[in-house]
Amino acid sequence: MAMAFLLSPFFCLLLLLSSTAIAADIPIFHSKAPPPPASSSLFDSVLAAAHTDPARLAFLSQKATAVPIASGQQLLQSNSYVLRARLGSPGQLLLLVLDTGSDAAWVPCSPCSSCPSSNLFLASNSTTYSSLPCSSSWCPMFQGQPCGASPTGPTPSPCTYNSGYGGDSTFAATLSQDSLRLALDVIPNYAFGCVNAVTGSATSLPKQGLLGLGGGPMSLLSQAASVYKGVFSYCLPSFRSYYFSGSLRLGPVGQPRSIRTTPLLHNPHRPSLYYVNQTGISVGRVLVAVPPGSFGFDPATGAGTVVDSGTVITRFVSPIYAALRDEFRRQVNASGGYSALGAFDTCFSTDEVSRTPPVTLHFAGLDLVFPVENTLIHSSARPLACLAMAEAPGNVNSVVNVIASLQQQNMRVMIDVANGRVGFAREVCN
Ligand SMILES: *[C@@H]1O[C@H](CO)[C@@H](O)[C@H](O)[C@H]1NC(C)=O
Ligand SMILES: *[C@@H]1O[C@H](CO)[C@@H](O)[C@H](O)[C@H]1NC(C)=O
Ligand SMILES: *[C@@H]1O[C@H](CO)[C@@H](O)[C@H](O)[C@H]1NC(C)=O
Repeated sequence: MAMAFLLSPFFCLLLLLSSTAIAADIPIFHSKAPPPPASSSLFDSVLAAAHTDPARLAFLSQKATAVPIASGQQLLQSNSYVLRARLGSPGQLLLLVLDTGSDAAWVPCSPCSSCPSSNLFLASNSTTYSSLPCSSSWCPMFQGQPCGASPTGPTPSPCTYNSGYGGDSTFAATLSQDSLRLALDVIPNYAFGCVNAVTGSATSLPKQGLLGLGGGPMSLLSQAASVYKGVFSYCLPSFRSYYFSGSLRLGPVGQPRSIRTTPLLHNPHRPSLYYVNQTGISVGRVLVAVPPGSFGFDPATGAGTVVDSGTVITRFVSPIYAALRDEFRRQVNASGGYSALGAFDTCFSTDEVSRTPPVTLHFAGLDLVFPVENTLIHSSARPLACLAMAEAPGNVNSVVNVIASLQQQNMRVMIDVANGRVGFAREVCN
């Protein structure tokens, strides 16, 4: 939805220029492992290399792992943020959507005529690729159910599954594993879905795939738990930025020390989601009055507030949003009144932007003040600015409040599952 506000032909041109620059920027890793003796066979040398892999991973994890992040707006005409990853051996570059609200990774694999991009992962080019059989312990997790009876025969039946995405598309995937490279780290045998077909609207689907950073067992944090110890942080650059200036920092090394934190709440029914204990919202100096219990965390219903990088616009359940919007409108006091534009219902003349009050989210133990750029979105077509938040859609998911990516620009968000906390710090990463 926000795409219509931000995309312009000017940025599309930059997209062409910037994508060539990205492809040329390939990090090179010099292995610290001693060369194998000259007499050893290829088999032995591969064996020796595999033996030193854990040590190399341990060595690498002593340093901060920073994976570049960019807005997908100009690169892929997508509202999501993408990070640079390489899959397979040799590594194939993919711009994967960074999604802290889901666990399973997936990439479009060749051949796939219905996939939304021609940049497909070519499994046959990778010497480390394998598909996983039904009997794999990953299969029931990705399938969401036990694998059906396998037909008799010499080859084990592959683990295939269907998954919905974004409400209007479904894809069919083969469970696979291969080496995943993030910055200089190599995560061997990473389990992911190789997408072979898409049905429904493919436009909302991440074009080159998705990396799930949620809290569940299929996510990067779980699959690389021994290396990253359940800690990561990210800084999302401005939506309009077309540089890879943001970063995903993986592991405990290099995380901000003096970051303010709030407890991470665990919902066993939704293990992927990072719930936080939100206690209120202020507009300017006014604490917005909401019905008692509006922010309550309830694992049974899923109610509460989550921090998510895969949702674009922050949404609040109806009574909270209505109260926030009314107070915001009262304080802006726009002389021309308010109009609706797409998902936004509080748009006003850009002449009155200077009257925008700060919006502060209150969490147990910390207050998060949004800068104006994270509060408003500007229309590219008309001199209008809109409150860049909305009411939760009126469906089964309408119980959860989501702190989304538009509100997280130029901020370091730290998810520390190991210590049960979520941190926020101002950081400009444009
Ligand atoms: C696959 O390998 C061929 C031959 O080495 C190469 O020309 C091609 O670019 C590779 N394709 C991908 C997607 O890596
Ligand atoms: C709102 O604006 C009107 C004029 O458009 C003005 O009369 C009124 O005093 C303003 N209210 C506040 C609270 O500033
Ligand atoms: C959320 O924080 C409030 C205030 O600190 C506290 O009373 C409440 O028990 C917390 N809720 C949860 C679910 O931790």
